[in-house]
Amino acid sequence: MQKKRILSGMRPTGKLHLGHYVGALENWVKLQEDYESYHLIADYHALTTNLNTDSIYDDSIDMLIDWLAVGLDPNKSPMFRQSQIKEHTELHLILSMLITVNRLERSPTLKDQVRDLHIDRVIYGHLGYPVLQTADILLYKGAFVPVGEDQVPNVEISREIARKFNNQYGNVFPEPEPLLTKFARLSGLDGNAKMSKSLNNTILLSDDSETVKSKLKKAVTDPQKIRKGDPGRPEICLVYSYHTKFNPGESESIAAGCRSGELGCLDCKMKCAEKISKFLEPIIEKRKYYENNIDEVKNILSDGEKRGKQTAEATMNEVRNKMKLG
Ligand code: TRP
Repeated sequence: MQKKRILSGMRPTGKLHLGHYVGALENWVKLQEDYESYHLIADYHALTTNLNTDSIYDDSIDMLIDWLAVGLDPNKSPMFRQSQIKEHTELHLILSMLITVNRLERSPTLKDQVRDLHIDRVIYGHLGYPVLQTADILLYKGAFVPVGEDQVPNVEISREIARKFNNQYGNVFPEPEPLLTKFARLSGLDGNAKMSKSLNNTILLSDDSETVKSKLKKAVTDPQKIRKGDPGRPEICLVYSYHTKFNPGESESIAAGCRSGELGCLDCKMKCAEKISKFLEPIIEKRKYYENNIDEVKNILSDGEKRGKQTAEATMNEVRNKMKLG
């Protein structure tokens, strides 16, 4: 049976962190077995929050290396940059005729971003962000889009645009559905609900064991537990939440030790650092391999861009035929 198709994408923000792993990559790696996956590096989308493109290529390569290091398989799934496949811009333009400004202005994803990043003037490209994202998905006829909760409204916009196109010109596109990631969020080292580069509270997938240790040493814990012997509350402790993810076998005994006071925060943190580093070890190993074989990475990208382009071209031919633009 023909496998269903997935389109997943990320903006190239450079080296990825554990939050990316838990919130997205872990899921992508699993999904590549059962679905035909396309992995998009959304470099045009990155412009909405950073006009400086000096490091955009290096950041894309860094992200690609992390994708490969966690186990995404380039033989199964093409990986490519949006900017290298011109069909994205072409379909984006056509789709931009099929949705109102008003509808885009109501997008909660846009509103959240404007608030969180303190954007005082919304650029045209920002408003059109979900339209470009729709082009990303529809060019590859993605039936499913693995995303976190915050992106669901964007996928809803994609569904509306796909429906509108199909009604106007004839059936070309599936209406994409979100595939929600279960364990959606990893808190940052400062206790913020989100691990994020801009908050500077991350553990990178490429951090060595010394770095992980020193970062964890500074992580916030239960403020009521000041020294060993004080009883703590694992359920509100960020380090404990990391244990549940990266050290599930011991998490019960750790919770008990924390509650009784027997386990001090420093010991608990060092144990956690050790487990996280153990988890990261094979990823770092693979990253080193790719860093030493950068030509292989570049070939993976150009091969992905060729394969992506073939699918995108075929879809655009269909679109032009239906629209009698041929
Ligand atoms: N908006 C997504 C994010 O910030 C990135 C993205 C761009 C994307 N195009 C996409 C995600 C297509 C899924 C499908 O995370």
